Amino acid sequence: MMRQLLLLTTAVAVNLSAQARVRTRASAADVRLAPTPPMGFNTWNKFGCNVSERLVREMAEAMVASGMRDAGYRYVVVDDCWQVARDPNGRIVADPQRFPGGMRALAQYVHGLGLKFGIYSDVGPKTCEGRPASYGHEEIDARTYAEWEVDFVKMDWCHADSLSAPDHYRRFRRALDKAGRPIVLSICEWGRNNPWEWAPGIGQLWRITSDISDRWESIAWIINAGARLHAHAGPGRWNDADMLEVGNGAMTPDEYRAHFSMWAMLASPLMAGNDLRTMTPETRDVLTNREVIAVDQDPLGTGGRPIIDRGYGLQVWLKPLANGAKAVALLNLRSDSVDAAVRWKEIGIPNGPARVRDLWRHEDLGVHVDAGKDYATRLRAKVPPHGVVMLVITPTR
Ligand code: GAL
Repeated sequence: MMRQLLLLTTAVAVNLSAQARVRTRASAADVRLAPTPPMGFNTWNKFGCNVSERLVREMAEAMVASGMRDAGYRYVVVDDCWQVARDPNGRIVADPQRFPGGMRALAQYVHGLGLKFGIYSDVGPKTCEGRPASYGHEEIDARTYAEWEVDFVKMDWCHADSLSAPDHYRRFRRALDKAGRPIVLSICEWGRNNPWEWAPGIGQLWRITSDISDRWESIAWIINAGARLHAHAGPGRWNDADMLEVGNGAMTPDEYRAHFSMWAMLASPLMAGNDLRTMTPETRDVLTNREVIAVDQDPLGTGGRPIIDRGYGLQVWLKPLANGAKAVALLNLRSDSVDAAVRWKEIGIPNGPARVRDLWRHEDLGVHVDAGKDYATRLRAKVPPHGVVMLVITPTR
């Protein structure tokens, strides 16, 4: 018996690693689904379980009215707590009090605004909030979502610890493929099982950490986790640094700008997590900064990485762009401001003239010459506490 069990577990292990090797690259379908990091809004960070059809409609409307749709935001995602039961046929049932018109009508309303609709479930038997989830119901759920005209599914990992993550996310991906509607699969197992190694070709994005919170320490911790994962990002395969906290109130404007900038440097999905109906003009300006969004959405799809750590809390991050320019973030992790200086050769630009654009001041800083010798010719900037100076540098010869 013991021997049989051993043989069985060995067979499963071999089988798993063989399967894990099957897809480690994004397929053409993945690239079509998410050629650049998905952008949108998700209910969780601000509203938790307090979700409803009305809230989702109002967020979709606000996404349009605020200019976010025009800036590239597309997905309106309802996170945990929309589901209450399964019917006698095993079909998932949305909360009839909170979603009286049903999910299909809600999806159609969102589509009518030129946006896409997303939903949340879990690969285990229950969601994190204890609602019925997809374990053993993968096919019927995928079919139901397709019928509801869902465009994006976030699959969580609560109550799933005893499962194999690659196996179970792959099972859900197959169910989605079978259901026949192109649906983005957002893998949310918090980076527990190194998803960057097996998730490409299964989902188009995968969380790299446990949950974000509206505090600078959380932002700095996620940036640090993303720093070593840049090689895994690319069209159809994105490291997900979690939904944004921009505008949720507990951080300074510089911290929110740094948070947004670094998500763009990481080529992370940009899913707003604040109340879009009541945001201040300052929050809207962060979320709709098109120059920073363009870095996130650059078609090359390269993940940014820290290339210099000055050792006193100042990092220089680099993200190569499709047109040959380089996005550079001077990131100050300190709680006082810092004078930063960078040399062209440190960021892989030949000595000589290069055009410098400041993406938060929305200003051309002119053609800057690094003569390679003295300090005076280097690019210099004052970086605020927990802040960034974000630049695009284009060599002019
Ligand atoms: C967590 C997940 C969060 C949110 C929450 C809902 O596991 O990381 O983003 O979806 O569950 O219960």
